[in-house]
Amino acid sequence: MSRIPQSFIDQVLAQTDIVDLIEPHVKLKKSGSNLSGLCPFHHEKTPSFSVSAQRQMFYCFGCGKGGGAFQFLIEHDGYNFPEAVAYLAERHGMILPQQDDYSPQKQAIYHHAHDLLARVNDVFVQALQSANAKKAQLYLQERGLPLHVQKTYELGYAPDGYGFLRQKFGSDSRRLAQLEAVGVLFRSDQGDYGDRFRDRLMFPIRNQQGKVVGFGGRTLSGHQAKYLNSPETDYFHKSQLLYAAFEHRDHIRKNKQVLLVEGYMDVLILAAHGIPTAVAPLGTATSETQLRMLLRLYPSPIFCFDGDTAGRKAAWRVLENILPLLQASHAPKFLYLPQGQDPDSMVRLEGRESFMKRLEEANSMIDTWLQGLAKMFARDAQGKALAARQAEQMLQQIPDLYLRKAWQIEVEKMVGIPLSQLQYTPKVESEKSESFPVHEEEFVAAFLQNKQRIDEIDALKKDIYLDNRTLFEIYTRALQEKVDYQHLIFHLTDTYPSLIARWLAKPIGEQRFVELKLGIQINSIRRLLGQQGEHRTLDMQVQLRKKLQQLIVKQRGHHGK
Ligand code: UTP
Ligand code: MN
Repeated sequence: MSRIPQSFIDQVLAQTDIVDLIEPHVKLKKSGSNLSGLCPFHHEKTPSFSVSAQRQMFYCFGCGKGGGAFQFLIEHDGYNFPEAVAYLAERHGMILPQQDDYSPQKQAIYHHAHDLLARVNDVFVQALQSANAKKAQLYLQERGLPLHVQKTYELGYAPDGYGFLRQKFGSDSRRLAQLEAVGVLFRSDQGDYGDRFRDRLMFPIRNQQGKVVGFGGRTLSGHQAKYLNSPETDYFHKSQLLYAAFEHRDHIRKNKQVLLVEGYMDVLILAAHGIPTAVAPLGTATSETQLRMLLRLYPSPIFCFDGDTAGRKAAWRVLENILPLLQASHAPKFLYLPQGQDPDSMVRLEGRESFMKRLEEANSMIDTWLQGLAKMFARDAQGKALAARQAEQMLQQIPDLYLRKAWQIEVEKMVGIPLSQLQYTPKVESEKSESFPVHEEEFVAAFLQNKQRIDEIDALKKDIYLDNRTLFEIYTRALQEKVDYQHLIFHLTDTYPSLIARWLAKPIGEQRFVELKLGIQINSIRRLLGQQGEHRTLDMQVQLRKKLQQLIVKQRGHHGK
């Protein structure tokens, strides 16, 4: 078999926890910062086999066998290397790259793409330092990002207009197609190429090998999408990357600290203030893969949130999602900043020392959990019963027996009700059931069912809005990631396993889809007209009404069929 791409191997490793892998075979007990047990490779009566969750390694002091997750499978189960990778990939529901993904041709394509992205990055970096990027430079100065930070993180600038990259790379049609494939040019319906990022500050996003695989771009002219990211490709998966994880890896190890913050700017401003240990997701909710990556970077990550309701909700969501990953060696912490502050504004306001103090005082996960439960339920008997039930459900998700017990004891103290004997029962689906507006849900289901529909809707551009946030998020993601339909569905299934399964199970016919689409379009326009648009001219209103009229006529015609 030809070579498996290193990037895929890294993704598999990021998903794997060696403790999960070894635990079924060896009874492990905590011993110092490691776990130990009887060696499965040689006969012994006293434990000399040790597993480090933090380093993701095992080692036997008796027989000298040792290594990482792959090595364990090879030694213990007799797999060869590619089989071990395939086994773990399957275990995590990851799709093994197509046979031809390993092929020299595909590898050459990736290599090419990475080279091209590196060159595009250089061009953006140069553009930021050039004389006609005064506006961008001033902006960075105002936001407090000194030149050395700009250089370290290779910030760049994509000038306004649609022709910057063509000016830099020429108009050779093969070159343009390549630039489109790596996500920095788009192609209009007329077949013209244009720059995807215009008048934006550019943040290169690197994979674990440090290769630039995509960009985030912040608008400097108040466009409605404040941040725009590169589209998904074979090597740019937003849910499997953390901004600055590569740049900060050594700092994180050395300082024994990793922070999860919300935005690129938070990461950089903290770094500018001598805290180079923050990473950020790429604009989506933190995925399970990202949580695993974080725990592997350092087992005691600190999650930073805004202290408002949205922040508390986000924290609760992280808490729920991290439970199934918890081992006794993990100690995540939660930090709530005062209302309306993000790490960026906070550290600028009060400086490094005060911010570091906040980090030291971050809430432990168990306290965050207990406080959350206390907030959610009343103090009376009924409230306590409800809290006990919810606690029980959550505790069952924790794989580590002793951690589960320790938490159980704490929550029993709080609610004053002994919980039943808890079993570890991992939930298959992590998403919460949410009731959606019926039409919107059916529309999104129909829309996701085939790529043509996604393309067709994409052509309508901004005509469609959905009221429900989750649905709108899924819808927007589909449009952004539609290039690779397989990957799109795979990724959505990652986040919403049962929803996607349900939606794809029952095909919705074309007639019905057209009907749903019209209904949604009409609602969207009505909503637009209903809003007192500050920048909506009379002319635009007239146009919207005309469009609405047309759609309604169409809808009548459709019903008549
Ligand atoms: P915020 O809106 O909180 O912005 O988005 P911010 O980080 O404070 O940005 P500044 O300070 O105004 O520059 C947080 C993160 O959410 C994603 C980006 O990853 C951003 O860093 N995001 C935000 C998007 O992907 N798209 C958007 O339109 C807005
Ligand atoms: Mn901000």
